[in-house]
This record gives sequence, structure tokens and C-alpha cells, in this order.
Amino acid sequence: MTEIDRAAIEADENTKLESLKASAVKQLETVRDLPGLEAYRVEFLGKASELMRLLKDVGTLPAAERPIRAAMRNRLRDALSRIVEEVRTKLEGEALTARLSAEQIDVSAPVRPEPLGLIHPISRTMEEIAAIFGAMGFTIKEGPDVEDDWYAFGALNVPSHHPARAMMDTFYLKASHLNASAGERKVLLRPHTSSVQIRTMLEWAETRKTSGAAAPDIRIIVPGRTFRSDHDATHSPMFHQFEGLVIGRDITLAHLKGCLIDFLKAFFNVADVPLRFRASYFPFTEPSMEVDIGWNRKSAEVGRGADWLEILGSGMVHPNVLANCGIDPREYQGFAFGVGIERIAMLKYGIADLRLFYENDVRWLRHYGFSPLAPANLHEGI
Ligand code: PHE
Repeated sequence: MTEIDRAAIEADENTKLESLKASAVKQLETVRDLPGLEAYRVEFLGKASELMRLLKDVGTLPAAERPIRAAMRNRLRDALSRIVEEVRTKLEGEALTARLSAEQIDVSAPVRPEPLGLIHPISRTMEEIAAIFGAMGFTIKEGPDVEDDWYAFGALNVPSHHPARAMMDTFYLKASHLNASAGERKVLLRPHTSSVQIRTMLEWAETRKTSGAAAPDIRIIVPGRTFRSDHDATHSPMFHQFEGLVIGRDITLAHLKGCLIDFLKAFFNVADVPLRFRASYFPFTEPSMEVDIGWNRKSAEVGRGADWLEILGSGMVHPNVLANCGIDPREYQGFAFGVGIERIAMLKYGIADLRLFYENDVRWLRHYGFSPLAPANLHEGI
């Protein structure tokens, strides 16, 4: 091939590619960002682009023209690819700089109010109870919600046909549901936390066997769920109680009174809270007393007014109960009490209907909930 022929082919190819080059140059100016660049790349270098079609057509060209035209088309493709990559690097750099300056952290900015969860008033009340009794040297004990009737009744001096069982009518589980053989012991949802008295005293008697008098006296509170088949504005089939139990050598009714008075004063934050200790009956305590708190039913104010509200049951642990747990009643005695957590929470926080605790109405929870960042503590008054 002569030089002249080659020049003619090159000139022809140049004209062919000229308009393509021109529009590639022109359109490059409109590329502003990475998605725009990608669209540009697809248009000029993508499978369906004109340049790709030209490259594919190389095979059909006359053999003499082929190397010349192919080289020119390839050069154009390489140049365009290089430009696209350069622009990409530049745009990516710009995008990064923009993000970095937009996402700058201002360490002096005030804390943004995050949507924090709130503590349910029942949980809060339990924390308050734990803080007050913790300061008095009590520890927290827990026991199972599903109990056997010996712990819930039998060991507590409530024989199987005693009317107290009906007063605390709870939910019994069928042995078949429990995969157990039907023995004499029935399985139920505990109607009170008093069953944990039994578990604690049994364990204690057991440790005393091995560690002797070194075993410290019992001083526990037991917050937890309890169940009874009741349902109205002040009763729910599931509710909460906390039990208190103190066992030692010289524990008397005076300790019981002092302990309850201190607790109620601290809990309601009323220095001279009016209390009425009323003789009562529980099979597992002797003597027994119920405690009423003075309040104003109308204004729901605690510590003032002429109305009384029963809030707890208590008494000296019955000798039979101690004996059932392997503790000699001539050597040891103690007191116990059981308090309805909803009842005292309703009084303290002015909640009129017990069922509201469990409806999970977010508006209600927002109103009655507590900040998790300000846990109950004695320093500021509970
Ligand atoms: N268990 C009793 C109840 O649920 C309360 C109580 C506890 C009474 C401990 C005396 C001693 O009603």
C-alpha cells in the first residue's frame, strides 16, 4: 500500500470518527457527578455504543484497511476510557470531600434528645423497694412463678381443705401439661410470693447443717409476679407482690413494726405517715396483722385525710412453718410480710385503675414512665 493510500484511509476514518469525538467532548462538559459519568460511559463506551459497533465491524473491513482503521478506533476507545477514569477519580475525590465536610462532628454540640425508652411504674416501684430495703441490709431473692402447692400452701400451714386456699384462688396446671405423673402435689401459678419464704428457709436450714452458726440470719425481700383469678379495677389475674422475711434468734414484733414504718415513710416520702396495724389472720403467721395507710380517697393523697387503705399483710412466722422448713421454733423466730406492688404504686403515683398497668398504651406509659437515666436512689428521697 502506498503512503497516499494510507493517508486517504486515515483521512476517511478521521471524518468517520470526527462527529463521534465532537459529541463525546461536548457531552463530557455536562457530566456533573458519578451517576452522570456512568451514563456517559454507557453512551460512548457501552456495548450498544457507536464506537463498540465500529470496533465490532472491523472484521468485515477489506484486509488492507483493517489494521489502519482498527488502530484508530482502538486509540479513540483508549483515550475515552482514560478520560472517563480521570473524571471518575476527580468526582470521587470531590464527593468524598463534600461528605467529609458535611459530616463534620461538632463535639461542642449539645446532646440531641434521643427517643429514650421509659421504665414502667411497676419496675420503678420494685427498684424503689429494693433501694430502701437494700439500705436496711436485705438482699433480693427470687423464686419460680410456677409452684407446687406444698411451697405455695402446704408448708405455709395451709392444709389442702383450708378456706385460705379458696381466698387465694389461683390457676392450677394439669399434670399432663407438665409432662409429669399426677402425684399428690399440684402444680399452680403462685398466688403469693410467700412460697419463696419456704424455699429460702429450707436452703438456710441446709446451709446451717454444713456451716453451722456461721450462716447469717435471713433478711430477704422477694419481688415478683403473682396470680389469682380476680379481675376488676383493683385486681388483675397477674399482679406483683413483694415478700419480706427476717429470721434470727431475737426477732420480735417490734422489729416488724419498725421495719414496716421505716419502709413506708421512705417509700411515700411522708415523715409521719398515718399507719394502722390491725390484728388479722394468716395461717402462716401468728400473731398476724394487716397494715392500713391513711389517705384521702377523693384527692388520692397519701398521709392526709380520714380514709384507710389496706396495703399489706404481715406477722410473726408461725412455729409450724419454721418446723416445716427444718428450723427449730424454740431457737429461732422471725417476721414476714407481703405487699401488693400495684397497690402502693397506684397510691404513690395517683393511678386510678390497676388494669392500665398492663394495657401497654404508649401514651399512658409516656406519662407514667420513668427515665432510665435517673434510677431510684435514697439520696434524693425515693
Ligand atoms: N401472702 C399474704 C397474701 O398474699 C401476705 C402475707 C405475707 C401475710 C407474709 C403475712 C406474711 O395475702
